[in-house]
Amino acid sequence: MKILVLGSGAREHAIITALLREEPQHDVVAAPGNAGIARDVPVVPLDPADPEQVTNYANLNGIELVVVGPEAPLVAGVADALRTRGIPVFGPGRAAAALEGSKTFAKRIMDVAGVPTGRAERAGSLAEATAALDEFGAPYVVKADGLAAGKGVLVTVDRAAAIDHATYWLQHGSVLIEEFLDGAEVSLFLLSDGHSVLPLSPAQDYKRLADGDLGPNTGGMGAYSPLPWLDAEFGSEQAFVDEVIETIALPTVRQLAAEDTPFIGLLYCGLILTAEGIRVIEFNARFGDPETQVVLPRLVTPLSGLLLAASTGGLGGLARPVFSADACVTVVLASENYPDAPLTGRALTGLAAASAVPGVTIAHAATSVVDDTLVSTGGRVLSVVAVGDGFTDARARAYEALALITLEGSQYRTDIAARVAD
Ligand code: AMP
Ligand code: GLY
Repeated sequence: MKILVLGSGAREHAIITALLREEPQHDVVAAPGNAGIARDVPVVPLDPADPEQVTNYANLNGIELVVVGPEAPLVAGVADALRTRGIPVFGPGRAAAALEGSKTFAKRIMDVAGVPTGRAERAGSLAEATAALDEFGAPYVVKADGLAAGKGVLVTVDRAAAIDHATYWLQHGSVLIEEFLDGAEVSLFLLSDGHSVLPLSPAQDYKRLADGDLGPNTGGMGAYSPLPWLDAEFGSEQAFVDEVIETIALPTVRQLAAEDTPFIGLLYCGLILTAEGIRVIEFNARFGDPETQVVLPRLVTPLSGLLLAASTGGLGGLARPVFSADACVTVVLASENYPDAPLTGRALTGLAAASAVPGVTIAHAATSVVDDTLVSTGGRVLSVVAVGDGFTDARARAYEALALITLEGSQYRTDIAARVAD
């Protein structure tokens, strides 16, 4: 199959790695990709968020499936443009992508569909925001309403900091003040064809910059899958997944279908397991990064068939995807000063040695080749991914590989998956 993958991060690299692992291999191209992706497949310099450019390229090149990685092309209507021209695309149209792009829209859908989530109030002025903060009390949760690249959320016990955050984001639109939810976080991905859903295996993301869940929120500093502790809480992973499908994913997908904005693509359920039950903290309309890097290496069922079936309304007849029992861990290597003002353009070395560690692959995120040298070009530079027989093994491999990589000033968390290792 001829597949175009849109995006340039470690998530897209992990999707491409999974597609290339299949037998027979596919004819994969990426736009715009990065230096790591370009080693594996041809890359084309398209703007992935330009519906016209993407559609013309897909038409002219006989693309049979477009997989949209990041949210920006979805919000820009790239999937709508492709679907109008009859090209199968894995990714929702602009209207359904508002599930991620607008927290107010997501809250409305959840309300109507009866999906369990925290109480929230939308504030358009500082007076409204302050009143809502005082109503819910500490810890305070303040969220920018639109896309904010992971920087829009502040969770704090400091009332003044909460008010500052609301003041800043109110310049860009409205903010949401939410009830604080306490419990373990789980990311569960569901493939959706607009009507039926199929689950992937759950993962846990580490959103804070520093060890011990300290420091600012980031796009994600590491992840692991599966989540062995779900067995103790729910009896099995499957029982947990079944509950999320029944109470969250299907009601959401049905509500979007009823509103004539079917959700075709990846429904990312960001969940908190509170003492009162499972609650949605956020939906995303695409694969998560870095969770994808730990979910796809464990996927045994061919990914391409699943993505195509979702894109063409055919998930209903398929069995649930099968996952290996391997433990998978990913640790993100980030630039100095990430997430505030990452310092980039620095040389990266040691990747060949790192990827020679058994069970290790490297998913590039922000890399480029300049004068024959591999350099960093953004905040999250790469994800080291390791599979093993258990988490102790997978972690040892990931950290052995990281120790072989050099990037001046770089940072990574040392406690990814420590809680599940023996
Ligand atoms: P979001 O971008 O909405 O996923 O939020 C980023 C992170 O902030 C989440 O992964 C949680 O760790 C935290 N968070 C968001 N909303 C809440 C909430 N209502 N209660 C507690 N923590 C939250
Ligand atoms: N890992 C969080 C996200 O992809 O939004």
